[in-house]
Amino acid sequence: MAEQKVTTATIRERKTKGEKITMLTAYDYATAVVLDEAGVDIILVGDSLGMVVLGYDSTLPVTMGDMLHHTGAVVRGTKRALVIADMPFMSYQVSNEKAVHNAGRFLKEAGAQGVKLEGGKEIADLTRKITSIGIPVMGHLGLTPQSVHQMGGYKIQGKEDATAKKIMEDAKVIEEAGAFSVVLECVPAPLAKTITQSIGIPTIGIGAGVDCDGQVLVINDMLGMFERFTPTFVKRYLNLHAQMKESVRQYIDEVKSGAFPDEEHSLF
Ligand code: KIV
Repeated sequence: MAEQKVTTATIRERKTKGEKITMLTAYDYATAVVLDEAGVDIILVGDSLGMVVLGYDSTLPVTMGDMLHHTGAVVRGTKRALVIADMPFMSYQVSNEKAVHNAGRFLKEAGAQGVKLEGGKEIADLTRKITSIGIPVMGHLGLTPQSVHQMGGYKIQGKEDATAKKIMEDAKVIEEAGAFSVVLECVPAPLAKTITQSIGIPTIGIGAGVDCDGQVLVINDMLGMFERFTPTFVKRYLNLHAQMKESVRQYIDEVKSGAFPDEEHSLF
């Protein structure tokens, strides 16, 4: 019998039951199949796509077209996991009308089951509108990469009392606006713990310590496929970059020497 599809209700229930939530990013069909078969709860089609797949310096150049294209591929590779798509920079900041339309495209055209938006109080109204028409919203607080220039770089957020208070308030506002969960990125572990204990929706941490209700990592980081930059909070479970390079070198050597294709890999 097919395993039951993970829904936003499943994710909320996990917090109530004290069961951890697992989330990873994916950007293509093949990776989504692996993650789904392995049993991850949520697959996030993150706009980290811009950096780890498309080679940009930040997430800012990522377009709706990029996100819809990759979200569709991930959805086609997923049977069980909940698929959430990141709304890219400038797809929800210009007007609520345009934002609602763009959020809907992720469900209608790509088959995602929800969207993720960065920000706190400033996107509360929008979150209310999007959720009121039946589109689940995941929040994202702390280090919000779409605001990298305003934050002055990719650095820990909420170290000072005032910024910690703001993140805490934003988490409450996002919950009240109807978000079903919230990502806490790069915030001190004690702050993440306090937020997790203070709100009813699950927190999903990345660089936010062990007390969040769940964890997320960028798949290319945890598999060692993105060499340019690895945040200190990332645990590398593989060194795929080195393993892929070694395999490609072996292939080159074998083609040059005539060892490949051998009889087994030839047609007669
Ligand atoms: O874009 C992304 O991959 C993300 C995660 C880091 C949470 O937003």
